[in-house]
Amino acid sequence: MALLTGFKKIKTAVFISGTGSNLKSLIKFSKLKKSPISIEMIVSNNVKSKGLAYGKIYKIKKKIFNFKKQITAEKEILLQLKKSKIDLICLAGFMKILSNSFIHKFKGHILNIHPSLLPKYKGLNTHEKAIKNKDEYSGCTVHFVNSELDSGEIIIQKKVKIKKKDTPSTLAKKILAQEHILYPKAILKIFSL
Ligand code: GRF
Repeated sequence: MALLTGFKKIKTAVFISGTGSNLKSLIKFSKLKKSPISIEMIVSNNVKSKGLAYGKIYKIKKKIFNFKKQITAEKEILLQLKKSKIDLICLAGFMKILSNSFIHKFKGHILNIHPSLLPKYKGLNTHEKAIKNKDEYSGCTVHFVNSELDSGEIIIQKKVKIKKKDTPSTLAKKILAQEHILYPKAILKIFSL
């Protein structure tokens, strides 16, 4: 992993599929002097991702790939990442599972944010599961991506209390607000010298 040297920021691509609220918080963070990253590219598998609008607002390159042919899509993505000298990928609500070969090529340089306290509740519907199991806490996790879903080394987590009256949607809202703080914190933690 390229460490923060001199004033050069780490060229980063953020992969999204939907709303892109984590993308927005990462963009805002990237503009701070203390941020070790600069966001150079937004990648999406979904032309309808609301988050793509941030590309226009913040003048960041957007690239949309059709994952119906995943091998081809990943080859094209790798080419674009290389062209733009991207050294870090932040998955932020990216709903496709990247192939082992892709992950291998960017090993140690892909991060993900997940809305649960991993290793609890990998995959989807995390809030439903936490409430159903009557957990006292849920939360969010930023982790390195490896070839197993939501299983790479954990960088940082934030606990969120589940209240009796919480529904999956109220809990999702509370956790998402914490995600926006946690992802930048994780990046600072990895790259602080
Ligand atoms: C977040 O809850 C994230 O943890 C999960 O997908 C959601 C994406 O939200 N992987 P957004 O698109 O960043 O608003």
